[in-house]
This record gives sequence, C-alpha cells and structure tokens, in this order.
Amino acid sequence: MPNIVVVGTQWGDEGKGRIVDLISESVHVVARYQGGSNAGHTIVTDGETLVLHHIPSGILREGKLSVIGNGVVVDPKVLLEEIETIKSLGYKVDEDNLKLSDGAHIVMPYHKEIDIAREERMGSSKIGTTGRGIGPVYEDKAARRGIRFSDLIDPESFSVRLKATLEERNIYITRVFERNPLDFDRIYEDYTAYGKKLKPFVTDTSKVLNDAISQGKSILFEGAQGALLDVDFGTYPYVTSSNAGAGGACTGTGVSPTKIDLVMGVAKAYTTRVGEGPFPSEVSGDLGVKLRELGNEYGSTTGRPRRCGWFDSVALRYSAMVNGVSGLAITKLDVLSSLDKIKISVGYRYKGELLTEFPSSTEVLKHCTPVFEEMDGWQKELHNVKDISSLPSNARLYLDRIEETTGIPIWILSIGPSREKVIFIKDIFS
Ligand code: GDP
Ligand code: IMO
Ligand code: MG
Repeated sequence: MPNIVVVGTQWGDEGKGRIVDLISESVHVVARYQGGSNAGHTIVTDGETLVLHHIPSGILREGKLSVIGNGVVVDPKVLLEEIETIKSLGYKVDEDNLKLSDGAHIVMPYHKEIDIAREERMGSSKIGTTGRGIGPVYEDKAARRGIRFSDLIDPESFSVRLKATLEERNIYITRVFERNPLDFDRIYEDYTAYGKKLKPFVTDTSKVLNDAISQGKSILFEGAQGALLDVDFGTYPYVTSSNAGAGGACTGTGVSPTKIDLVMGVAKAYTTRVGEGPFPSEVSGDLGVKLRELGNEYGSTTGRPRRCGWFDSVALRYSAMVNGVSGLAITKLDVLSSLDKIKISVGYRYKGELLTEFPSSTEVLKHCTPVFEEMDGWQKELHNVKDISSLPSNARLYLDRIEETTGIPIWILSIGPSREKVIFIKDIFS
C-alpha cells in the first residue's frame, strides 16, 4: 500500500479536506504535517458539515489513526474545542485514534496579539493573515524560543520557557506596538489546564508513523494551505509561514522522503485566494462575484469572501513541478455548470513578452496579465453524473484541456461537496 501526500496546488481551499476524507477510507493513518488553526478543511457527511482546523480529515473514518505532526502549530484551546465538536457528532476521538506530536509548537496568546497588531500596523501592505498567530509562532520556532507540547505537559519546564519568552515578547508588544503586556499567571494557568487535558494524546509521533510503515501500514499525509502559499515556493511574502508543499510532509512528520510513494495534487476547477497577493487569473466585477456565489467562496476559518478567478495552468504546472505531483483531484467542477463561457489561463504577458513559465519573482508576477483560452460551457447540472463517460461533452473537453495544458492526468473528479459526488478515474491504490 502506498504512502501518499495530498497537497493543495493553488492558494488553499482546493477541497483538500474533502479529498482526504474520501481516500482516507483506503489507508491506515492520516497525518497532518504543517499549518495550524489558519486551516479550515470542510467535510460533508450525511448532511452534517464539519470544519477541521488541526485534526486530520481521516478522523471520521472508523479504525483509522489520525496524527498531528511536529510541523503543525497547535492552538490548544481550538484543538480541544475541535475534539469536543467531533465527539458531539457521535464520532470517537481518544488517545487510541488521535496522536499529537510532542515536538509540535504551541500557539500562545502573544502570537495572536502580534499577528493582529502587525497586520494593523502594515495597513495597505498587509499580508491579509487569518490572525491566528501563525507567522509569530513559526518565528519563535526558528528563533529557538518556542514552546512545544513536551514543555507544555511538564509544568516546570513550561514555566521556565514561558517566563523567558514572554519577557522578550512583552518588550516587543509594548515598545513596537504600544499595546499592554500580557500577564504570565493568566497564561500559565490557562495553558497548564489545556496541557493536562491534551497530555494523553501527546507522544513521539515520528516513532508512531515509522513503526506503522514498518508494519506495512499506509500513510496519507495531509497538507494544510496550498502550495502557492508555501513559505519557500509560494508567492512570497504573501504566503503562510510553513512549507505547505509536499516537502513539508517529511520535515513535518519525521518520515523520510524514501518512504513516500506518491504525491496527489488537489485543484479547484477554477481558482480562489484569500488575503493579499498577486493572482493573475483573478476575475473582477460581476463575474467574479458570480463565481463566488456559485461556489460559496467564503473562508471556512475567517468567513472572509474569497477572491475568485479562472483555472491557471501556468501556476498549476509550477506547483506540480515543485511538489512532484503525478495526478490531480479536480474539485468543484459542478460550480461552473451554469456558465456559458469558461476560461483557462495558459500563459502570462509581462511587459509585452509572453511567459509560459510561472515567474519566481513576486514583483514580476504582480505585473503579469493572463493569456486566456475561452471554451464553451456545458450548462447542465452534474450532480447525478456517475462516470466520466456520462459527463456533458463540453465538460469533458474542459477537463481534457486542463490535462493538456498542465501535463498532469486527472485521477479524481469531485462534482459536489458530499462523499458520493465523486468520480474515481484512476485507482491510486492499484
Ligand atoms: P480545504 O481547505 O482545501 O479543505 O477546502 P475548504 O473546505 O476550505 O473549501 C472547499 C469548499 O468546497 C468546502 O465548502 C467544501 O465542502 C466544498 N467542496 C469540496 N468539493 C466540492 C465539489 O466538488 N463541489 C462543490 N460544490 N463543493 C465542494
Ligand atoms: P486551508 O488549509 C486559504 C492565507 C491567508 C493569508 C496567508 C497568510 O483551509 O487551505 P496566515 O494566517 O497563515 O499567516 O496567513 O495565507 N491562508 C489561507 N488561505 N486557505 C487556508 O487554509 C489558509 N491559511 C492561510 O489568507 O493570505
Ligand atoms: Mg480551507
């Protein structure tokens, strides 16, 4: 059985949660490798809609192990709420089916304070973050002053590390942002209580995952965010602060690249982006609003309206290259059903020159305008389509064009948010 990375190939919200939920049925373990409560992965089952922030999208499948890896940054309050919500829906969540890395860093109140204050201060040059403290917690990780679960579950170690870090962060908060300092006792009390509740889940997850591989079990690695928000390969600085791409699966779990067999990319049949940053195939005006309404494109975490645009094969080819994507899951094809014309971006114009490769410079990308191909729509509902041969011919032509312009085959087609609205084109486990 292969070990698979499922990676978002655009700017997030591609439907990763929905695809991971589907294929988690066929694996033993699902592991999240980066991101934190900035992520919102939606799963729709039996009419219930559940949005997960930290917990892998395999948690609803009986008998599967869910792992939150060391690369994830965890807001313990949000995680505890998530556990309670899943339990209240009648699903099992306990230390047998959920493991939390002792090396995962903790999002602290000062991270959120700094994230929000910094965005306010940056004004029009802001990143448009989710305000969940993600940038500052990864900063602390790299600066070697972060607090990890191994500290949190040990009150003495937690007290020492919190004192040192808070002292420094309070200087920053008061001097740079002219805000009130945060109180040690309050944080210590709240967080030791969270630590106590989460302690049963905390373990060395790299050992858990490598043992599972040794026993012949298969692992599905679930990325949060999208590869174009990756801190190294995304549209920097308009990115998140971790490696959302496939490479993050190794550093974020402690599983070696030699153990990964396959990378599958998830892409929407069009494109969305939340927050600031270049987005060449963005559609403005009434059509942009129409796409948003048709696709219900509002952030799963913040509720912010998502910017919408056409499918961008230039960006996707780049994403597929840096992530080693061998096949695609295309989601939300049904959203385009009522449109009479549909476009695909197949190149960019930059200062009169035609670019067919995604530029590595964000400054260049900001000034690129897309070269679109226009295709006829199919104007038929897709909800009852059961196999690829029953798709309207224009929908098939559109998918063929996606495959031709990206050079990547489509393995899964999603035509609705619920579990049964899917067409498997290739059996990835064969
Ligand atoms: P993620 O962050 O990549 O997991 O994606 P989100 O959950 O933030 O956003 C995807 C949204 O699209 C969710 O509301 C899903 O329920 C919904 N969705 C996923 N696949 C499909 C699909 O094929 N068709 C439709 N109409 N909705 C879908
Ligand atoms: P999922 O996992 C879409 C975006 C923010 C902002 C940038 C940095 O649901 O796909 P951050 O709070 O991470 O410092 O914000 O990244 N962003 C997302 N956009 N979906 C997400 O998660 C995102 N997580 C972060 O909007 O532009
Ligand atoms: Mg999302």
